[in-house]
Amino acid sequence: MQNILVTGGAGFIGSNFVRYLLKTEPEVKIINLDLLTYAGSLDNLKDLPMPDRHIFVEGDICDQTQVERLLRQYHIDTIVHFAAETHVDRSILGPGQFIQTNVVGTYTLLEAARNFWGEENQTQPASVEDVRFHHVSTDEVYGSLEPGDPAFSETTLYEPNSPYSASKAASDHLVRAYGKTYSLPFSITNCSNNYGPYQFPEKLIPLMILNALDGKPLPVYGDGLQIRDWLYVEDHCHAIWTVLRSETQGETYNIGAGNQPTNLKIIETVCEILDELKPESPYKPHRNLLKFVQDRPGHDRRYAMDISKINRDLGWQPRQTLASGLLSTVEWYLENPGWIESIRKQVDYQGWLEKNYEKRE
Ligand code: NAD
Ligand code: DAU
Repeated sequence: MQNILVTGGAGFIGSNFVRYLLKTEPEVKIINLDLLTYAGSLDNLKDLPMPDRHIFVEGDICDQTQVERLLRQYHIDTIVHFAAETHVDRSILGPGQFIQTNVVGTYTLLEAARNFWGEENQTQPASVEDVRFHHVSTDEVYGSLEPGDPAFSETTLYEPNSPYSASKAASDHLVRAYGKTYSLPFSITNCSNNYGPYQFPEKLIPLMILNALDGKPLPVYGDGLQIRDWLYVEDHCHAIWTVLRSETQGETYNIGAGNQPTNLKIIETVCEILDELKPESPYKPHRNLLKFVQDRPGHDRRYAMDISKINRDLGWQPRQTLASGLLSTVEWYLENPGWIESIRKQVDYQGWLEKNYEKRE
């Protein structure tokens, strides 16, 4: 693995993955293709270690001509596909862009890879055994668990409940089908909720941190007793790299952390950390800002990942505990007001959210 095309590398997980690879893998060169939608930002790629091994290209995964040109120009042997529309609430308000980016975009990338890697007379990569299409997916494709149900395994049936998760499920199936039909070497990882630095503040944890700092309400959907399996983003990056380095092709791995607090518990913990780190805050105790709002339609109740396959076969396990990961995440947001300011200037996400909440109350 030498020349890696990362799609969506200006987003939350993608930019953490770029940083992780540049720090830990001295041999790789990264071509980062990102459309810079509202969720992507070049501010996520400032101060990269070893920046000369990273080339940023602004562009669309749905543009097959551009993708094929990049594959050829940089002799790409590995594609790590993060680019997507990712926010469940947005998918409920408008599914169209999710179908376009997540389904059509993944199909377009697969076609480009099939064309390029299937070409004769190319000098690099040397053979199809040396290439890999890695697809980054989500636990949401499996649907929702009831209390007491066993955690999702790689053989759990797909039962997506939101337009977002349905679009990700479709893209997973396309990747698998290209592997079976055209022998395209692939791997898929399905991961639980990530948190950590550079997460766009429409997602639960950064939204709670920034609203609490501003004394704004902390919206809790429904009864707040929904459960997610929270994974620190660097652990996810490490897991993807572990899968990429393994010889096995055509495999799916579930990734999670075994952390399953309720949303209420997560929000209260964030509030407690802020009480501690910002003792002078006029909004202390921050938990007084909690506001119960109308539930998300079709809201999945519980996710939990069985990670025994990746643990047993590849030796991966998460390193960060939820307590230490949450503390360092809150610290990161407190230490990076410049990043917050530039994201706020770039996107009126608060306006979008407020409009959305008006409908919920
Ligand atoms: P994000 O929303 O932070 O970033 C998505 C990135 O994709 C942005 O930089 C955006 O500009 C880019 N993008 C969107 N459309 C594009 C297009 N047509 N062409 C090129 N780039 C485009 O997303 P994230 O949270 O970092 O998630 C990354 C991937 O991981 C997604 O595939 C998501 O489904 C998956 N995932 C996310 C989580 C999570 O908790 N965030 C968990 C499991 C899986
Ligand atoms: O499980 C993996 C998925 O995690 C990824 O595939 C998605 O891309 C990612 O967005 C995330 O989806 P969720 O819907 O779980 O994340 P979100 O941060 O939007 O919400 C987390 C939980 O918190 C969910 O139960 C809804 C709830 N919530 C969310 C927000 C934004 C609230 O109660 N209040 C809020 O304001």
